[in-house]
Formats: sequence, structure tokens, C-alpha cells
Amino acid sequence: MSVQESLKIVPQGNVAVIEWDLVGEKVNKMSSPIMARFKELLQEIQGDSRYGAVVLISRKANIFIAGADIDEIKSMKKADDFRKAVQAGHEIFNLVEDLKIPVIAAIHGACLGGGCELALACDYRVASEDPATKIGLPEVKLGIIPGFGGCVRLPRVVGLEAALDIILAGKAVAARKAAKIGLVDKVVHPSILEEQALELARSLIAEGKGKRRKSYKPASPVDKFKDSFIGRPIVFKMAGAAVFKQTHGHYPAPPKALEVIRRTYGMGDRAAALAIEADGFCEVAVTDVSRHLINVFFMTEAVKKKTGVASGVKPLPIRAIGVLGAGTMGGGIAYVAADKGVEVRMKDISNDALAKGFEHARSIWDKLLKKRRISQHELTQRMNRVTGGLDYAGFGQLDVVIEAIVEDMKIKQRVIGETASKCKPDCIIATNTSSLSVSEMGKGHPNPENFVGMHFFNPVDKMPLVEVIRGARTSDVAVATIFELSKKMGKVPVVVKDGPGFIVNRLLVPYLLEAMFLLEDGMSIETVDKAYVEGVGMPMGPFRLIDEVGLDVCVKVAKIFHESLGARIELPPALDKFGAAGRLGKKNGKGFYKYDERGKSQGVDESIYGELGLGSPTDKLKTSEVVERGIFTMINEASLALIEERVVETPEEVDLAMIMGTGFPPFRGGLLRYADSVGTKNIADTLERYAIQYGVRFKPSKPLANMAKTDRKFY
Ligand SMILES: NC(=O)c1ccc[n+]([C@@H]2O[C@H](COP(=O)([O-])OP(=O)(O)OC[C@H]3O[C@@H](n4cnc5c(N)ncnc54)[C@H](O)[C@@H]3O)[C@@H](O)[C@H]2O)c1
Repeated sequence: MSVQESLKIVPQGNVAVIEWDLVGEKVNKMSSPIMARFKELLQEIQGDSRYGAVVLISRKANIFIAGADIDEIKSMKKADDFRKAVQAGHEIFNLVEDLKIPVIAAIHGACLGGGCELALACDYRVASEDPATKIGLPEVKLGIIPGFGGCVRLPRVVGLEAALDIILAGKAVAARKAAKIGLVDKVVHPSILEEQALELARSLIAEGKGKRRKSYKPASPVDKFKDSFIGRPIVFKMAGAAVFKQTHGHYPAPPKALEVIRRTYGMGDRAAALAIEADGFCEVAVTDVSRHLINVFFMTEAVKKKTGVASGVKPLPIRAIGVLGAGTMGGGIAYVAADKGVEVRMKDISNDALAKGFEHARSIWDKLLKKRRISQHELTQRMNRVTGGLDYAGFGQLDVVIEAIVEDMKIKQRVIGETASKCKPDCIIATNTSSLSVSEMGKGHPNPENFVGMHFFNPVDKMPLVEVIRGARTSDVAVATIFELSKKMGKVPVVVKDGPGFIVNRLLVPYLLEAMFLLEDGMSIETVDKAYVEGVGMPMGPFRLIDEVGLDVCVKVAKIFHESLGARIELPPALDKFGAAGRLGKKNGKGFYKYDERGKSQGVDESIYGELGLGSPTDKLKTSEVVERGIFTMINEASLALIEERVVETPEEVDLAMIMGTGFPPFRGGLLRYADSVGTKNIADTLERYAIQYGVRFKPSKPLANMAKTDRKFY
């Protein structure tokens, strides 16, 4: 890459336009050579009296500057490496701030992390009103804090509350919102962004207006109070409590950012403030949490470059897809596809179901419209991409059909055969089944090479994972096409072999069953759920999750697992009592928790203990045991699925699938990274102990026992 070509000054009269357009890269990012080049250009401008103002602009399609080069961050190991990098950044951004002439950032597209911090060091910010424009500081998502002056400058520009809102959650805001909070000075149509930035530059020169250091001025009495010496501690305290509620203390970056902002807000001495920021940055950058979060980032980035098959296999082009069944999953799949520009034809056997499918999609777009994330025109455009009916009209033109009807092998096989007869010969049919065999189902297709699994997670619009399931006769082209479609739908695909529960449910089901054993051993629902949410960092506890999925579904799947996987999947005796008691979970308001008509949780349903014949919970087991029994069970199953059965090929795929499909805490790097941090010997020994105490379901698998001999790691 030529740094000279990547960043250059293009003079426009007496305005120096610095163009960012990294050669050979899709995005503009800040690596050391690029920053050195930028510094050179700033020094050149400083020494050239011709110039009266500077405009920073990107020549990339939808990126201003995406942030620091994460490859570089990943390669740094010691606090000292980080310190050098942030100090270099501070020096360059100070140069921008201290330049004798005004600097204007003309922002179109992603302006994130270091990009946003650079914009903050400028005197003025003009942004394009375009959905691609997003300005923010996502650093905490990588376990770090803004380290190029963001913690110091953002609060100064937009005030404490708005800055904390962005920094602590790692948020990015759209142009209008940025203008509302004072992060940008002007919002313009993208076609006139450059013109407007130049005009501003020229008028500043003409009026002889030079530098400015924008500082936040609270307008309302409430805002004035919040920014006062009495109000600020209250704002910090509330923000700290909110962070803790969200992270349960597992993520060090947000509290560190909060501390840095608390210590530097209102500080006159810039150098001292930036030094505090640099210290804070170095402290969190060397943590395991940050290392894990960066790894997860790289794993998801790597998927974007993959095809799911060996090189040379090309996916078929996808323009239009069909969705069979407009229920919970079908409606969600139709929404996501249409949202990403794919034409969708839904088919159901009931008009009511179709109407609900449309309504489901519509309600999500309505919410986006309300939040101004999409325009009315975009909403109409997206809605128009979805059509539906009770027959197969239009199926002859479809490239892919995704089946999401009732979970019944016979019905699915029949419907798949019928669908294939209405479609063109190379149309790929994919099933969204969660528990049935894809290979077996493929027998319903006249040409099973064109049949594959495409397993989405509920809710489809929120859960990023798609398991692409290769059946016994599935062709490479079918896998490649569904892999590509998943990416097109903004999902993270992982190719898995056919088998009970594929990879995610395969690991999740024994974990959920273990929660029921814990209940039978006298643990309370709240204690178990709390141990997993607060202790482990799961997004919800196992009982809450069972309620979400539906107790009937869980019981059915557990039995299928027990039949196919044997003694390892032991069924808790309580399992058969749910059906009789009419407990279905959230969908009928009656599960481990009670729910009102709107589905809002009303706390644990205490009557369940008596109903299952358990008596009052004693909560006598230690939290460590509660956690180990669930998590080590998953690790045990993962060792078999990965090493012996090769359901997936690599530990990365297990981790990615569990993070994206179940919300397994990313700060732990995934299930198997976590296993490595605990040690396979430790895990196998503990499982042996539980096997003696509670039964064979805990017996370490052969591959795990083997690894334990030398304490070998998964990675
Ligand atoms: N709900 C989940 O959490 C979840 C998650 C992943 C996968 N799945 C799988 O997705 C599939 C659908 O599940 P769901 O929860 O959306 O079910 P659902 O009951 O909400 O929807 C099924 C829809 O299919 C329609 N249907 C039934 N027979 C049909 C036919 N012959 N042709 C066209 N439409 C027909 C029904 O009218 C209904 O609208 C199942 O295979 C399920 O295992 C479900």
C-alpha cells in the first residue's frame, strides 16, 4: 500500500483538502504508517501560508474513517506498546487541534473510534444525512476505551450525559442525532457534503474566524444542574450503576472509561487529562477480556471472507427466495431477507398466518421508522419486497426456498417434494428444522443434492447465527449458496454436519437439562438463573431460556436427544410432569416464571416446586457447583462433537456458534477458550467427581479424558 497515495492534500484555492483513501483497502483505518503520513501532511500545511483552512474528507464509498487498525492492536502485547501507540495518536490529534487554521471534518459513512476522535479534534464537523453515516466510539465493545482523546474531548463537546451514553455502551449515532447532541455542527445531503464543507471553510477564512474549541453549554435548567458540581457526581453514580447492572462487573472497559471521564471532565490541562486517558487505556488493553473480545471480532470478520466450502465452488446467484410457513421463524426470515434487499415470497396454509408474517416484518420496520433509522420511502420499498399467498405462485422464479413449517418429518418431506416440483431444477431448498435429520428429510427431495439445512435462531432479526447443515447428499454448491445467502442477510454462518441438535442445541440441551437436575437437587429457579447471568455472564439463565423456547419444545427435543445420544443425555424425572400441568412457558404465560398477557415476567411461579413434588428449595449447593455442572457438561459434549464426530472443524467454530447462537459471554472468548482457561484436566477431574456423585451423564468423554492426561488445550 502506498501511504503517499492513500492520504494526500488536494488544494482547493486556499483550502487544503486532505483526502483519505487507503490504497488496496475497503475501509480507511488508522495504522502507524497512515498516522505518520497524516502527521507529515499536517506539518506541511502548518508550514504553508497559502492555506487558510483544512477540510478532511474520505474518498471511500460509505466510510469516513472506521477507526484504528485492529490488526495492529491485536499484535500489541505489552502495556508499553499500547502507551506508545496512544501517545503518538494524542500528539497527532493535538496537532490538528493546535493548527493555526480551522479544520473541518466532512463526514460521510462510518466515523468510528479513532475516526470519531479525529473529528472531535477538528474545529467543525459537517455530516451527511445518510443511513451509512454513523458517528461514535465503539471501543468498549473490544474491551478497550477511547484512547485517542475520545474520553477527554467527547464530553467537552456534547456534555457529560450524552458522552457517557455513547462511550459506555460503545454506541454510534446517526447524523441527525449527532447534530441534536451537538456532536456535529451541520447535517447536509450527501451530494453536497464536500461543497458545504468547502463553503464553510471559505466563509471562515473570509470572516477571519479562526480556531474554536467547542464546549458544551447546557441549555435547560435540568441540564445545567446535571453539569453542575452537585449534579455531576449524581450523573456518574447513575451511569456506574447502569453499567454494573448490564455487565455484572465482567467488562473492565466501561467502568475504566467512566473513571477516566470522571477524573478528566472539566480539567483545563489537556496534557494531564490525556495522560490519565492513556493510563486507563493501557490498563484495559492488556486484559484477557480485551484479548477475547478482539478475537471474537476477528472470528466474525474471518467468516465474511469464507465461503463455507473448498475454494473453487461458486454459490448460485440469489435474487429472490421463498419462505414456507409465515410463523415465528418464517416471518422473521422474510423480514431479514427483505430488509437486506432480497425479494421474498411467503407461502402458508392459512391467511391468518400470512397476515401475521407480514405484520411481524412491518412492526419491526415501523419501529425503525420511529427511531428514524429508515425513511418512509425505505419502509415502503422493503415492504414491497415481501409478497405472499396460499399457493406456489411465483415459485418457478425463486433461487432458494427456506422451509419453516411444523416440526414434523413426514409433513416436511411431503411439502419439500411438492415444493421441488414447483421450482426450477437448480433451486436450493433449505430447512430451518431445529431437531430433525437433514439427511433424512432430504429423501423427500427428488434431487437431495439441492437440499440443505439453514438453521436460524429465535428471534431471527436479533440472533446473528445461522447453522448451515450439510446433509449426507447435500452438494457443495448448495452449502456455498446458503452460506452466501446467510452473509447477505447479515448473519454469521457456520457449516455443521448433520446430527442431533447440530452444534448449538447439541451443547445447549444437556445444559438446560442439568438446570432441571439442579432444581431436583433443591436449588431454586432464581438462584440457578442468577448464577449463570451474574456469575457466568450469560444473557439469561437456563430456566428463563426454557420458558422462552417453550417447555413442550424442550421436552420433545430432550427425548429425541436421549434416543439418539444415549445415557449421556439423562432425562430428569420432572420432565414428564410439565405437560400434564399445562406448562408451556412464556407462550401460555405459565412456565418456571409467570407472565402477564403482554408476556411480561411476573417473577418465579412458586407453585412449580409442589407440582413437581420437590418441596421448598434449600439452595444448599455452592454456586461453583451450579455453574460447573452446566458449563462443564457443555464442554464435555463439545469435546465429542468437535474431536470425535467433527460436527464442526475447529474450536473457533464452536465458540463463534455459541456466542452468536446463545449469547455465551463474548468476554470469555467462547466456550472452548473458557475451557482452556480453566484447563481440561481440571474440568475432567471435576466431571469425574460429579459422575460418582450424580451419575454417568457427567462421565468425561474419551477425547476430553485424553486431553486431560496432558492438560492439553482445545486451541
Ligand atoms: N421457534 C423457534 O424458536 C425455532 C427456532 C429455530 C428453528 N425453528 C424451526 O422452525 C420451524 C418453524 O417453527 P415456528 O416456531 O416458526 O413455527 P410456527 O408454528 O410459528 O409456524 C409454522 C407455520 O407454518 C405454517 N404451515 C404449516 N404447514 C404448512 C405447509 N404445509 N405449507 C406452508 N405453511 C405451513 C403454519 O400455518 C404456521 O404459520 C420448525 O421446523 C422449528 O423447529 C423454530
